[in-house]
Amino acid sequence: MFTFAPTEGQSKADLHADLLSSARALTEGEPDAVANMANLAALIWQFMPDLNWAGFYRMVDGELVLGPFIGKPACIRIALGKGVCGTAASTAETQLVPDVHAFPGHIACDAASRSELVVPVLRDGVVIAVIDLDSPSPARFDAQDARGIEALAAAIAPHI
Ligand code: SME
Repeated sequence: MFTFAPTEGQSKADLHADLLSSARALTEGEPDAVANMANLAALIWQFMPDLNWAGFYRMVDGELVLGPFIGKPACIRIALGKGVCGTAASTAETQLVPDVHAFPGHIACDAASRSELVVPVLRDGVVIAVIDLDSPSPARFDAQDARGIEALAAAIAPHI
């Protein structure tokens, strides 16, 4: 049994530090990418409050394909450059979207989503996946969340 859990009332900096160390511990020595992405989606969901979707899209044959996640069923394939996820994948840059309705081409998988954070996962300089987080609250994510999930993405890149 795994006992990773956030601490009540901890600062966002401490929360991201604990999420990162938990992610390292959880994926250490496990070569199965699906198992690791499934556990990481659950871990992010557990550590970060106020989410309605947390998971992975993987780069497969030049498009994004849905991976392990927590949340409602979502669109399965996203073309590069389309939506928030396709933009993160094609630019290899984090997309921090305080208002999804203001993002041109946003793909609404869950009508409840109001803000979104998408972080590319790079291995050897190539985007292999994105981590997608959605929230029902406007402007749920800030730069600290972006840096935290980027650190997570770098740490888990060899394990997914
Ligand atoms: N909103 C995303 C699509 C994926 S769902 O949020 C799970 C986008 O615009 O790419």
